[in-house]
Amino acid sequence: MPLSLENYLDDAANTPELKPVAKTLVELTRAAVKVQQAISTAGISHTDGSAVPEQNASGETQKALDIFADEAFLQAAKNAPVFSYGSEEQEEPVVLGAGELALAIDPLDGSSNIETNVSVGTIFSLLPVLPAHKVMACEAYRQPGNRQLAAGFFVYGAQLLLVLTLGAGTRIFIYQPKSGGFFLLNAETSLPGDSREYSINASNRRFWPSSVARYIEDLEAGEDGPRGRNFGMRYVGSLVADTYRILQRGGVFLYPADERQGYAKGRLRQTYEANPIAFCIEQAGGAATNGTARILDLVPDGLHARTPFIFGTQGEVALIAEYAGLPTA
Ligand code: F6P
Ligand code: MG
Repeated sequence: MPLSLENYLDDAANTPELKPVAKTLVELTRAAVKVQQAISTAGISHTDGSAVPEQNASGETQKALDIFADEAFLQAAKNAPVFSYGSEEQEEPVVLGAGELALAIDPLDGSSNIETNVSVGTIFSLLPVLPAHKVMACEAYRQPGNRQLAAGFFVYGAQLLLVLTLGAGTRIFIYQPKSGGFFLLNAETSLPGDSREYSINASNRRFWPSSVARYIEDLEAGEDGPRGRNFGMRYVGSLVADTYRILQRGGVFLYPADERQGYAKGRLRQTYEANPIAFCIEQAGGAATNGTARILDLVPDGLHARTPFIFGTQGEVALIAEYAGLPTA
């Protein structure tokens, strides 16, 4: 009999500070099931993938499903011991009052892909709330990722999956519609140590830092180049899908800073994208940096802070840092 998420949490969340985390996770899974159902009926239900004339806090066009997901997870947070709800879709954290956790969330990651029927997801991070954060809720989102109590992401794809870490390994749960619950898929997830895949939006090549361009050039040179072996490239453009593939097959993902206007710190958001993914990746034996420094030790300058983001197999992430330290040609 596979282990249910509730039973896993009963065992794993056995410290006083993890009890509210467990309660919150159960509420998040309920919202995720609603979002999955909305996605699977998009086009025939009220929540289709079309754009609505609004922009989110990042200036991106919001889609009906973005708003649906945001509302579903906000409601989940209200039912849980969450003090503040910090969402990609909201300019400022929403203060809910009672509760001892700060939730940072990307309610529908990859939603720009929604009409193409590829996997999208929800990424979340749970942080402690200190007395000072009760006075200024936004301060809770200036904590480094190494303070996260739990983090993870849902993948809305061929399967509804939850990738979760409470800081002692990363585990994957699968939703079973018949019983209506999430069940453990494998005891502990660990990134394959040797990989021949990389993931980057190569259309930005002309804007990349020279160290990234040289690293990718050396991968592309394959067995004729300095790496002496061939690599494959995969890029979905939906962070949850690219992360899940790397958890299964290893490899490396790069979204570096680049020279385009507005990309001086890359594209991805630290509190609700890089921190939770970095936590899951490290707990699965991988590494995550901004190119040189560990993501989880960086102090974000607020809920919507951006960071260059590189993660995956430890050896490749370390090698990319070495390229960054080399003098430019
Ligand atoms: O949330 C931002 C996001 O949609 C990620 O899911 C994805 O990794 C990235 O942006 C894709 O960005 P780009 O379209 O610039 O490659
Ligand atoms: Mg996103």
